Amino acid sequence: MMIIELKGKIFEKVTELAEQESLEVYVIGGFVRDKIINRKSKDIDFVIVGSGIDFAQKLAKLLNPKIKVSVFKNFGTAMFKYKDTEYEFVGARKESYQRDSRKPIVENGTIQDDQNRRDFTINALAISMNKASFGNVVDPFGGLKDIEAKIIRTPLDPDITFSDDPLRMMRAIRFATQLNFDIDENSYESIKRNKERIKIISGERITDELNKIILSKQPSIGFNLLFDSGLLEIIFPEMYNLSGIEKNNNVGHKDNFLHTLKVLDNISENTDDLWLRWSAILHDIGKPKTKKFVDNSWTFHNHQIVGANMISGIFRKMKLPLNEKMKFVRKLVEMHHRPISLVTEPITDSAIRRLVFDAGEDLDALLTLVESDITTQKEEKQHRFLTNYQKLRVKIKELEEKDFIRNWQPPIDGNEIMKLLNIAPSKIIGVLKDEIKDAILDEKIENSYEAAYEYLLFLAKKNNLLKDEK
Ligand code: CTP
Repeated sequence: MMIIELKGKIFEKVTELAEQESLEVYVIGGFVRDKIINRKSKDIDFVIVGSGIDFAQKLAKLLNPKIKVSVFKNFGTAMFKYKDTEYEFVGARKESYQRDSRKPIVENGTIQDDQNRRDFTINALAISMNKASFGNVVDPFGGLKDIEAKIIRTPLDPDITFSDDPLRMMRAIRFATQLNFDIDENSYESIKRNKERIKIISGERITDELNKIILSKQPSIGFNLLFDSGLLEIIFPEMYNLSGIEKNNNVGHKDNFLHTLKVLDNISENTDDLWLRWSAILHDIGKPKTKKFVDNSWTFHNHQIVGANMISGIFRKMKLPLNEKMKFVRKLVEMHHRPISLVTEPITDSAIRRLVFDAGEDLDALLTLVESDITTQKEEKQHRFLTNYQKLRVKIKELEEKDFIRNWQPPIDGNEIMKLLNIAPSKIIGVLKDEIKDAILDEKIENSYEAAYEYLLFLAKKNNLLKDEK
């Protein structure tokens, strides 16, 4: 029997109240699993053989009468926050699900009933909070052994566990990725068999799991499993379509799915930003649509533009936010080819200025993405590209110190152009504004209001825009 002594005021009070009320109480789920593998966990779940809501309310009063308890009557659960940790309380349940519906029929049950209905053996472990058995680990399915062997396994027949809540197929893959565990063969075969049932799960819940996979140390583990199990094709066909190599005349191209996974793993070594990681996933998403065989080689002409135009559709479908995060990903996808020409051709100051101006505050993110995009196996080539990007970063820094272009705006804006030339809003305003901006970035004219004003007059004359000259 394994014993885990839990220390802290909350556990003391839980025991006190459990004795007072003569109730069986356990800590269960992720907290127990994480405690055993020494992993940080954010929240703690308690199972009460009795009413979880009642217990939560009484416990909160004992701890601090000011605590606000949130009660979810429909689910029979209650939770509160205490000193930065969330505590959740649920009555032990015997649950059976109706097919094709997520609404379970809930009955009161024993601790064993409650453990039966959980997703994986490693998540079904419970620790007793009662005085006589305090700290005893209740492990009916060999969860401790599975933690040791690093195995994700369902406690019951996997077809039942996954059918009860098909999101668990994603959760199996998510835990395998986060914890670097293997999925038990029997459970994995069941995922393959039941993959179609993921369709009854809401996009939000699927994306939650996907984002957790993306934020893992090595996200490719999860994406390979999603691909191989057949789930990826259902939940994210655009990414699935990156896979494969077509040959023509014995000329092939790289497998863009495997390439994308490499870029994603690379970027994950350098950033924990979810949206920068998403930009790695999506950077080549336009390739399948633009693939052509021309002059005996494969081209993906304008794939970055076609890809950028796919972003809002993908975000909408996957219930990702349609806000500035989406715009950021879109911008990076669209711009991911820009820095490449700067390290393969001789660099001019004006080309760098233009990149800095267009990327604006997202320049560092863009450079992180393009550096991660170097996936060549040839060491010499890899070294050359990386050094060139290092040089580019130095050059950018030098130019920025001199010119402050990152958050720079041209000295004359559209409104002013309309006022100065006395013309109505029209396309020409944008053209003039860009020409002034380019002239400054190319150092054709000085970066000052006077120079921009003079240049504007010159352009206006050239284009016959000065109607009422006195
Ligand atoms: N659970 C389950 N089936 C689900 C979701 C959750 O059986 N579809 C059970 C598991 O016992 C799980 C517990 O509820 O351990 C808590 O779920 P959750 O907080 O989502 O996951 P954790 O295991 O705590 O892991 P994490 O905090 O990393 O998400």
